[in-house]
Amino acid sequence: MLLLFVFGGILGCQPKQVAEGKKTFMKYCSPCHGEGGAGNGYNANNLDPHARDLTDKAEPYMAKLSNKEIYEVIEKGGAGVDLAPTMPTFGKVFSEQEIWSLVSYIRTLHPYKGEAVKFDEAKPYNLKRPHAASVTEADFDAIMTSKVTDEMVKAELIETGATVFDEFGCIGCHKVKGKGGLLGPNLSRAGFMLQPQFIYRWVRNPQSFKPNTRMPNLDLPEEDALAVTLYLGTLKDPQFGGDGTGRETE
Ligand code: HEC
Ligand code: HEC
Repeated sequence: MLLLFVFGGILGCQPKQVAEGKKTFMKYCSPCHGEGGAGNGYNANNLDPHARDLTDKAEPYMAKLSNKEIYEVIEKGGAGVDLAPTMPTFGKVFSEQEIWSLVSYIRTLHPYKGEAVKFDEAKPYNLKRPHAASVTEADFDAIMTSKVTDEMVKAELIETGATVFDEFGCIGCHKVKGKGGLLGPNLSRAGFMLQPQFIYRWVRNPQSFKPNTRMPNLDLPEEDALAVTLYLGTLKDPQFGGDGTGRETE
């Protein structure tokens, strides 16, 4: 009898999915949220607001969220659920199964008595990662020709690009002019280091270059991708570093 309970308890914990979720968490989330989820990763001090403490050390917060709410913030990012955009969106990177595994792992980080995350063998989650078409140099040339019709339009797009950099949370991972995160390379000299067609193609689909890169596909609309590309193209001043070598995670 006792044995049955113990066994049932283990099944209830879904150790396989929890372990999968942990692995994903360590690679993609711990730089901000910390290895134990306490919101103290090496990139945490560069974020305002801070990455959420997922352990509920200070107050019961995570325990009050439903499993679906946690799923949604991972899928849609902070910007998609009225939180800070520096919490990235992962819905264009991870499969449904991967996101539920993350939720099941996150549930082990704080005291929680609610409903467990269910993995139903009869109705499995989708294992396939979303696939976005890769973006070509011709796509870049086409949007340049159609949108950047004169210098005034270009100047406006550059201004928009600076806003995109904040509003899509690029700043949470990249430093520009001395401000921002350390998860990705310092982009303060992106205009000197990188070709615009590469920037555009990369930001619209980083996974097409590097399937397991920590930079998520942020689902940037074409025009915002163009704007941020032109903005980064203006950054050439050496005084803020950014020689392309500062990749702490590689
Ligand atoms: C670049 C830093 C960064 C990364 C990487 C990151 N997060 Fe976050 N996360 C944040 C920030 C900042 C917040 C707080 C947002 C707010 O409260 O406005 C947050 C909040 C959250 C929350 C709380 C949501 C809520 O409703 O309050 C969850 C859950 C979460 N992140 C999960 C994850 C998972 C899972 C990953 C990895 C797949 C991840 N985060 C990766 C920065 C990050
Ligand atoms: C969750 C963190 C994260 C976010 C958010 C993020 N990036 Fe990145 N980015 C990275 C990482 C990590 C790399 C290095 C990728 C690699 O080599 O695997 C990178 C690489 C890049 C590169 C290529 C740099 C080079 O030297 O090759 C560019 C350009 C870039 N990011 C722009 C952006 C822009 C623009 C945004 C916002 C729309 C953004 N990133 C959002 C993490 C992030």
